[in-house]
Amino acid sequence: MSSNPTAAADDVNPLADPEDRPAPPAVFVIFGASGDLTSRKLMPAIERLAVRRLLPPGFAVVGVARTEMTDDDFRERMRELVEKGGGGGPEARHVWDSFVGAFRYVAGDYDDAATFDRLKEVLDELDRERGTAENRLFYLATPPSTFPTVINGLKDRGLSRSSSENAFSRIVIEKPYGHDLQSALELDRVVHEAFDENQVYRIDHYLGKETVQNVLALRFANATYEPIWNRRYVDHIQVTVAESLGVEHRGSFYEQAGALRDIVQNHVMQVLAMTLMEPPVTFDADGIRDEKVKALKAVEILDAEKVKTQVVRAQYTRGWVGGEEVAGYRDEEGVDPHSTTETYVAMKLKVDNWRWAGVPVYVRTGKRLPKRVTEVALQFHKVPHLPFHLKQVEDLEADSLVLRIQPDEGISFRFGAKIPGQAFRIRSVSMDFFYGAAFLEETPDAYERLLLDALSGDATLFIRSDEVQRAWRIVDPLLQAWENDDVPVAKYEAGTWGPREADELLEADGRRWRRP
Ligand code: BG6
Repeated sequence: MSSNPTAAADDVNPLADPEDRPAPPAVFVIFGASGDLTSRKLMPAIERLAVRRLLPPGFAVVGVARTEMTDDDFRERMRELVEKGGGGGPEARHVWDSFVGAFRYVAGDYDDAATFDRLKEVLDELDRERGTAENRLFYLATPPSTFPTVINGLKDRGLSRSSSENAFSRIVIEKPYGHDLQSALELDRVVHEAFDENQVYRIDHYLGKETVQNVLALRFANATYEPIWNRRYVDHIQVTVAESLGVEHRGSFYEQAGALRDIVQNHVMQVLAMTLMEPPVTFDADGIRDEKVKALKAVEILDAEKVKTQVVRAQYTRGWVGGEEVAGYRDEEGVDPHSTTETYVAMKLKVDNWRWAGVPVYVRTGKRLPKRVTEVALQFHKVPHLPFHLKQVEDLEADSLVLRIQPDEGISFRFGAKIPGQAFRIRSVSMDFFYGAAFLEETPDAYERLLLDALSGDATLFIRSDEVQRAWRIVDPLLQAWENDDVPVAKYEAGTWGPREADELLEADGRRWRRP
């Protein structure tokens, strides 16, 4: 671990145990402290870290938001929130109660300098009273439209720079990072006027998932997989991010986002980069991120014609999911009844490099699909010659390796085996590894992992500026074509695996989607 917490993140070994790199004393400042993300993700993660004693005594939280509240109101709210979530037993309660005692709250508008003056006072008080050592981790859990205002507020009050060589000032920025390439570049400009790139932690919670990190373990800690992880053995790749939920109460947010911005530009691109990347020379933040950027640079940028033939966008209509009848997207609360926002995207991508030339990558994501499942499947080539009668192999599929990101986290290898009996017949079977069965260790929530990383200065699982830009470069032509209405919005019934057009996309190549 780096002795200077502001030093470039690539000094840190991302695989080190948290015990070997305990979080330093710090104040965690949450902008948007009265919002949904704070209650659903950030506070429960802080509570778990506190209870597991991974946070130092010199640790405090400052909530900032527009809602009027006193310090005590805020503390009470944070206490209740964790209690409601069923957080821990009596001992955990006790630890959490003592932590919450150090929480502070600043009410104010983000465009008012007084808010940042007050924040600075509170931070100075905490440094004196709680020994937080002038270390600050700012977290933007606010709507993206406020990001520049908050960043400028921090800059103008001198909070974006560390006060000494031994102290750090870092910022964690939630997705969406821009709404297209241009706006991401503009946001980067604002960010970089206040913070150096090595102070910036762009979060994508998928990178905090154990199974996403395990893609690196599987590929680079084993001798078996890397030799076959290329065009010679792999016929094609399928990435699926399926959700059974609809847009819930987020209709008006989702109208502006759609599946492409909400899932593909970030989560899918990150998982894809880890799947396609070359082995890094070193396992540190820049070693890994350099390779991810290289992989994303090899992904073909579709021109307007290819967007028409290689991409499908669609919306769910009324249907049945999990035994319940559910509304169509256009009938959801906060959604325009004539909306063209996509709740499903399927696309075919080419990867122009030595390893993957000629191996198509098919990506699909959607809401209101039959079940929640995220997986990466590598489908291998068929054998060059099958010395069997057709009848003997009618139940045989090509071999595949499936990385199940969630749920039922694990890995399956599908291959052909002889069916017991007098006849010689072959059927595909699975060799399965399940996290739950193989390990007794508890899996931390993605936010727990990522917050601890940000506190300890490990940026490996955060997205660098050039990665975000590259991901936007890939999806920008799609946004453009959709804005011009060049691609029709297909329909699929809620509870089905997407529109017919998505099946046709693969059928045209003589392939079909897996049924996860
Ligand atoms: C979020 C999206 O980033 O990821 C949501 O905004 C989506 O729309 C969620 O539901 C999916 O995350 P997970 O961890 O449940 O796969």
